[in-house]
Amino acid sequence: MSRGEGPRVPEDDWQRAVLNDVATPASEPTPPPAAPAPVPPPPEVADVPPPAPEPPAPAPTLPPEAAALLTGKPKKGDSAGRRIKRALGGVFSSAARETAEVTGVARQLQQPITTGRQIVVTSVHGGAGKSTVTALLGSAYAHYRPDPVLVMEANPTLGTLPVRLAAPSLRWTMGDVARVVAPSMRFDQVIGYLVGLPEGGWLLPGSKGQIGAQVSLAEYQTVAVALRRYFAITVVDCETLPGELARSALAGAQARVLVAPATVEGVAAARTVLEWMGSVPRPMLPGTVVALNSTSPHTAIDLEAAMRYLRVGDTPVVHVPYDRHLAAGGAVRLSLLGQETRDATARLGAELLDRAVRR
Ligand SMILES: Nc1ncnc2c1ncn2[C@@H]1O[C@H](COP(=O)(O)OP(=O)(O)O)[C@@H](O)[C@H]1O
Ligand SMILES: [Mg+2]
Repeated sequence: MSRGEGPRVPEDDWQRAVLNDVATPASEPTPPPAAPAPVPPPPEVADVPPPAPEPPAPAPTLPPEAAALLTGKPKKGDSAGRRIKRALGGVFSSAARETAEVTGVARQLQQPITTGRQIVVTSVHGGAGKSTVTALLGSAYAHYRPDPVLVMEANPTLGTLPVRLAAPSLRWTMGDVARVVAPSMRFDQVIGYLVGLPEGGWLLPGSKGQIGAQVSLAEYQTVAVALRRYFAITVVDCETLPGELARSALAGAQARVLVAPATVEGVAAARTVLEWMGSVPRPMLPGTVVALNSTSPHTAIDLEAAMRYLRVGDTPVVHVPYDRHLAAGGAVRLSLLGQETRDATARLGAELLDRAVRR
């Protein structure tokens, strides 16, 4: 596989340097250059895979009582009327243009990647749709690409990502993997610590749904650097800004998504964050895409004006529409999304990948 080639060691060093760099709050003066960190001694037996540690006990993704609450079939994103209207309209109107656009986006999504790219998803506050957008992106990349895709949860306690990705059960968390991962591991050993997902790709959860779990910056850095070479794309459901982990992960990534809810306060906060991203010593705006997410069917804002307001620099803004399938909760299935949501997901994924491969 071509991804395994190339100057791997300098890349990893570069990323570690960036991650360490931004762990310093942006408002503090830049400290004088420190003495180079001591080089850690090489592992004693470099070529032999470490003995498999005792696996943690598996935990169900949802308690059985909660899983039993699900009734009936999952909802489709579009209503029946809307599906019929589009089926009729598509034949006569813009079918040719749509096909051209779709193939263009598909080609962008399938573009070759030489070394692992990391895409970090963050938001201005909880409930904006961060885990939903992460699940959409992870599933879309896994669907369109033949190479391995990883979704990570750098976001401790009671996250919804494992449910959204239909993870069958959880065993190893990011903290567990940080303690066992070793450069000598083969791909088949690495995926033994991950959850294989029904829609494709792998998941590394932040916790097993317990209160008080933590994902530390050091654990994230260890895992992000170590797993990067095994996966073409890693999508990270990151904690909300302005936490230290979020700032560090954002700066170390090749592309970033800021999820902004389509509300007046959400858009205002997102604009503030974008201006901050443009002002930090290592500007984060290049490589950033805004997902303006409608979590409610009722919107009190002018979407076109909001998108213009959020276009700070040349940051693209992709509107993710309200979707009944997403609103219903539970596992996200690409095939059940409304057409506009599917198009928005593909466009968001394509814009991000374009930026990620350039850096
Ligand atoms: N585009 C959308 N359409 C409908 N509902 C959405 C959409 N995006 C998110 N939601 C819903 O909004 C709520 C919050 O989303 P979630 O992804 O869990 O947010 P976060 O991870 O930022 O806290 C969830 O109930 C989710 O189903
Ligand atoms: Mg979440």
